[in-house]
Order: sequence, then structure tokens, then C-alpha cells
Amino acid sequence: MEQTKQLKQKYDYTIVSQFSIMSIIWGIIGMAVGVFIAAQLIWPELNFNIPWLTYGRLRPLHTNLVIFAFATSTLFATSYYVVQRTCQTKLFGGLLVKFTFWGWQAIIFASIFTLPLGLTSSKEYAELEWPIDIAIAFVWISYAIVFFGTLAKRKTSHIYVANWFYGAFIITIAILHIVNSAAIPVSIGKSYSIYSGAVDAMIQWWYGHNAVGFLLTAGFLGMMYYFVPKQAERPIYSYRLSILHFWALISLYIWAGPHHLHYTALPDWTQSLGMVMSLILFAPSWGGMINGIMTLSGAWHKLRYDPILRFLIVSLSFYGMSTFEGPMMSIKTVNALSHYTDWTIGHVHSGALGWVSMISIGAIYHLIPNLFNQERMYSIKLINIHFWLAMIGTTLYIIAMWISGVTQGLMWRAVNSDGTLKYSFIESVQASYPFYFIRFTGGFIFLFGMLLMAYNTYMTINAPKYSLKFIKQIAQ
Ligand code: HEM
Ligand code: HEM
Repeated sequence: MEQTKQLKQKYDYTIVSQFSIMSIIWGIIGMAVGVFIAAQLIWPELNFNIPWLTYGRLRPLHTNLVIFAFATSTLFATSYYVVQRTCQTKLFGGLLVKFTFWGWQAIIFASIFTLPLGLTSSKEYAELEWPIDIAIAFVWISYAIVFFGTLAKRKTSHIYVANWFYGAFIITIAILHIVNSAAIPVSIGKSYSIYSGAVDAMIQWWYGHNAVGFLLTAGFLGMMYYFVPKQAERPIYSYRLSILHFWALISLYIWAGPHHLHYTALPDWTQSLGMVMSLILFAPSWGGMINGIMTLSGAWHKLRYDPILRFLIVSLSFYGMSTFEGPMMSIKTVNALSHYTDWTIGHVHSGALGWVSMISIGAIYHLIPNLFNQERMYSIKLINIHFWLAMIGTTLYIIAMWISGVTQGLMWRAVNSDGTLKYSFIESVQASYPFYFIRFTGGFIFLFGMLLMAYNTYMTINAPKYSLKFIKQIAQ
């Protein structure tokens, strides 16, 4: 009791708890929208002829909610926790810390209202209109001040590697967002990008790809470097490799954006450069994955009874899989088949569900008992069930999309001996239906697992304090 009180005085846990809880809530809402749009692709009448329920408006709502509400809340929560624990000091910034929480939630609410209303800049993953973009810049700069201010007043001599990854993610996202969102407003709800043509496309995918590279990857690698060793109770496999991993990753990612624009008006040499950089990117990605997984050396047996560790380690396997698949898809001849098909969607969700969601879930399960003075989560059995639901859901989703994607690609390029197309577009849509149903089922299963997590979290928070510890003592 005394020790927890001291910890509370030493660290600011309220903000971490707020972001952790919101991450679960936004995860459920964002994925529910994902399941709904997956259903609309099977049963289009589900838009009920209401404009704000149409697929074109709900799809960006899904991506914004899962990336900026769910994944980013987890990043806020874990970075604030990790920077305090590894620097042995409270967060810097006073009221600014609170501002990052309430400001970010206000931005998410603004996206929930504006996107279904059809207010969009139409830039993928940067759809929000200019007043919200300005608010994002303010909150993000405040986040940077809190994070780097805390690093500056650290009581330790060195900066633990997890903070390097979080720091790179915070700085890069600020630059990407500000540069890509530069626009000329014409009304409160409409603006036009200051870039045009191929330059606009290049800036957009420099942003888009590095949002993947820094938000969905570097930030989560920061999470890996703290939570995997903590949960495994082992030091990181190689600290030297982690530094090499950091510099190689951040210096390579920034060049790979053009692989999203193969066979477009972009100069050919930039496309080839994007491809080569993407292929090289495979090396640091796997170096990082190996560093994470090998941290378990001598503790493999823990995987048998610790489902939280299982979430963390399996997420790394999915990370390895999607960072093998990504470089392959960036090869121009492979991309000629995969682009525009569901293969891309499969790749996205092996990263999004397998890597981003699973590591987030593992980290939050680790955090909740620590934040709410409990010995452990309310039910380990429920975490175990959640793990298997997440595994089954992800696997169904990505396998269905791979088969559907390759089928689409092959059907579109099939020609008769006289050079005419063998299949009409609608035939390829028909061929995709069974796989859309499998994806819908997989998504639903994954979402169900998230609901179990919410219940488990609620029960943990509301369990009488220390009762679990007490029960354990009696049982011994
Ligand atoms: C070495 C690492 C990676 C490389 C080289 C890579 C490469 C690629 C390529 C070539 C595409 C298809 C572009 C197209 O045809 O339009 C793509 C799409 C995508 N990848 Fe990756 N990928 C990597 C890792 C990841 C990871 C870990 C995630 C994480 C969650 C991810 C998320 C995405 C997303 C969201 C898209 C879709 C973008 C869009 O068109 O909207 N990628 N990636
Ligand atoms: C229950 C889980 C989920 C379901 C059922 C689901 C479903 C979908 C569907 C149906 C699409 C549209 C595909 C298309 O237009 O053909 C989509 C797109 C996307 N989703 Fe999800 N999703 C889920 C979870 C997530 C999560 C957790 C993330 C990120 C952390 C994510 C990130 C994305 C992205 C980035 C795209 C756009 C891909 C692109 O443009 O290439 N999704 N999702």
C-alpha cells in the first residue's frame, strides 16, 4: 500500500490511465465501424440510403478511429508511462499534460462528426479539414514539449532505447502532418492542398508511408523495447542491436514512400528508388523483430502460461510477416498484380491487427493492474480466450484477403487469344464475395475479443483493492 502511494506521488499515472481506457473504448468503436463497413461490402443496402452511413464516408471514419483514436491513444498512454519509469521522474508540463488528453479527445470527436458529414480533404489518412488540422498541430507540439521536457529532467544518466523510438515518432509525425496538411481554406469546412499534380501525390505518400513507418511502426517498436523485457522479466537481447536498429530504420523509412505510386506520373527513377529502399528496409525490420523475440531466450516456457507475453511475442511474428510482405509488394512487377486489390488490404490488416493491435493489447493488459493498484488482471482465463479470438480473427481476415486479392489481380489481367479481357470487372467482384464474408466473420471475432478485454478491465478496476493479492496470500 505504502509503496503504491509513493509510486503515485513519484509518477503521473492519471494521464496514463485515461489514455489506456480510451484506447480500449476507441478500439471497440473503430473496429465496430470496420466490421460494419465489411458487412456493407457484402450487403450494400446496409447504408439504408442515408448519406452519412455510406461506405465512402464510413471507411475514412474507420481508418481515423483505429489509427488516430485507438493506436495513437495507446501510444500516448505507453509513451507517458515509459518515459516516466525509465527517466525516474514525473511528466514535465503541468496543465499541458491534461491538454494533450482533452485536446486529442476533442479532435477525435470532431472527426466523428465531420467525416460522416462528408467534410474531407480527400487525402488518405489526412482527411480532416483545416481547423482540425491546426488543432492537431497544437496538441502534437504540446505532446512533444511534455515528452522531451520529461527526458530533459530525467534522473538517469542515459536515455533508454524505447524513448528514442517514441521521440522519433513524435518529431516525425509533427513534420509530416504540418507539411502534408498545408492548404488554402475556402470556407470553414473546405480547403485545397497547396500542392498539385504529381507533387501533391508525392507529398501525400511521403506522409502516408511514414505515418505507417513512424506512427504504426516506430512508436510501437518503442512499446516493444519496454514491455517485452518487462513482461518476460529478461533484459533486451542486444542493446547494441537496438541502437543499430533505430538508426537504420529511421534513415531508411523516409525514402520508401514512392512504392505507393508505382506506374503513375511520378518520375520513374523515384519509383525505383522507393522500391530499392523498401527492399533494404527488410533488414532493420527483421533485426528489430529478432531482438524482440530473442529477448525471450531462456524464458520460452513463460509463453505456456502467460497470455500477455503471448500477445506481445505473436505481435512480433506478425510484424516480421508484414515487413517481409511489404518489401515484396514494393517490387514493381509484384505491385502490378497486388495494387488496387484486396492483397493490399490483407497486408494492411496483418500489420494493423496482428502487429499494432496485438502489441497494444499486450501492453495495456500489462499496464491496467499497475495503474489501478491490482496484483494482476481480474481473469487470466479471459485474456487467454481473448488471445485465441484475436489469433483466429486476424488469420481469417488476412488469408481471405490474400486469396481474394490474388484472384482479383489474376482475373483483371487475364486476356483471351484475341486480346480482349477474359472477365468483366463485375465477375471479379462476384468472385470476392465469399472472402468478404470470411473477412467479416474474422473481424467480428476480433471485435468480440475486444469486448472481453473491456469487461476484464472493468472488473479489474472495480475489484476491491488488493483483494486479489490477499487471495493469493491465503492460497499459498
Ligand atoms: C518493411 C516494411 C514495409 C514495407 C516495405 C511496406 C510496403 C508496402 C507496399 C508496397 C504497399 C502497397 C502500396 C500500393 O500498392 O499501393 C503497402 C501498403 C500499406 N502498408 Fe505496408 N509495408 C511495410 C510494413 C507495413 C506495416 C508494419 C504496416 C502496419 C501496420 C503497413 C501498413 C500499410 C498500409 C496501411 C498500406 C496501405 C496504404 C494505402 O494504400 O492506403 N505496412 N505497404
Ligand atoms: C475488427 C477489425 C477490423 C475490421 C473488420 C476492419 C475492416 C476494414 C475494411 C472493410 C476496410 C476497407 C477495405 C476496402 O476498402 O476494401 C478497412 C480498411 C482499413 N483498415 Fe481496417 N478493419 C479492422 C481493424 C483495423 C485496425 C485495428 C486498423 C489499424 C490499426 C485498421 C486499419 C485500416 C486501414 C489503414 C485501412 C485502409 C487500407 C487501405 O486503404 O489500403 N483496421 N478495414
